[in-house]
Amino acid sequence: MFINVTDRAGDRHTLEALEGFRIMEIIRDWGLDIKAECGGACACATCHVYVDEDWAPKLVEPTDEEVDKLDEAFDVAGNSRLSCQILMRPEFDGIELKLAPGSER
Ligand code: FES
Repeated sequence: MFINVTDRAGDRHTLEALEGFRIMEIIRDWGLDIKAECGGACACATCHVYVDEDWAPKLVEPTDEEVDKLDEAFDVAGNSRLSCQILMRPEFDGIELKLAPGSER
């Protein structure tokens, strides 16, 4: 499985992904610039990504905790998500994401 991540410079990276991993972990482990300060505890909002409009409705709805934490992120949009709160699964193979401003290390 793969995820496609566009960085803040506009370069698109196709990253191999394993089921059960947090999308944030996949982005970080492949060395892209994502701060993810709290390590996936939904406590920092520095793993903010924009999910492609076609993919966003296919994701599990964000929890209240994620919605509250997203309020602290920069430039939040309708397709904003915290990438640590999305677990990779086969249905998300090929998902398109963009790193949001404010999540750089
Ligand atoms: S890594 Fe901190 S909220 Fe996602």
